[in-house]
Amino acid sequence: MMLWDSLYQRDGLRYGDKPSMCARMASPLLGEARTVLEVGAGYGRDAIWLAERLPTVTITALDSSPTATRMLDRRPVANVIPVCQDAFDWINGVAFDALLSNFFYHIFLRAQRQRLFQRAHVALESYGLFINSFISIEDEKYGRGRDVEPGTYACYPDRPWHFIHFYSAQELVREHLTSGFEVEHIEEATEGEYICGSIEQTRFWFVVARKTD
Ligand SMILES: C[S@@+](CC[C@H](N)C(=O)[O-])C[C@H]1O[C@@H](n2cnc3c(N)ncnc32)[C@H](O)[C@@H]1O
Repeated sequence: MMLWDSLYQRDGLRYGDKPSMCARMASPLLGEARTVLEVGAGYGRDAIWLAERLPTVTITALDSSPTATRMLDRRPVANVIPVCQDAFDWINGVAFDALLSNFFYHIFLRAQRQRLFQRAHVALESYGLFINSFISIEDEKYGRGRDVEPGTYACYPDRPWHFIHFYSAQELVREHLTSGFEVEHIEEATEGEYICGSIEQTRFWFVVARKTD
């Protein structure tokens, strides 16, 4: 999406160069996988960190921002494949063992999230792992800014296009089930998120789910 691209053009490494808390929590669970798809991978801070720790895993890092993908291209790692594509359109011939995302699905509207969950289901092998982080209704930004649809706000006045959907645990379990995933583990955590030089305390859900067939 070009609006996201403009942020990377302006800010470069806007989330810093350290891996997310979600990637650190997911790492011990991905050792058995041979192939991982990371959606909304940005400039690959998580993909690179995971690939270096899990040398037998190949990580396809998909993001729609050409600038972020070019940043990742400039840091070649043998087992990371950068892909610049829109997650709504991208089709891969072979199913992945696991799919990972950090703070990706919650930036979309309800109907879009449903479509992306359906695409994740198609992208995964039977019983594939689906590991993601989602902002929680306990986050301090909940209710801030323009009310877009239930639970979803345009929180940042300078970016009216940047939506955040805030999840409860119940809604997450339901949304996974509806798309053919069973939640195996859900936990709430707080991350001191680096965003453009400031630290934002972000309350989120770490969810480990599995495709049910
Ligand atoms: C909140 S950022 C998270 C980036 C990365 N996961 C991280 O933690 O560093 C959301 C990412 O989703 C990407 N994105 C937004 N819409 C997309 C789409 N339709 N298809 C693929 N990527 C998209 C943006 O370019 C951005 O990199």
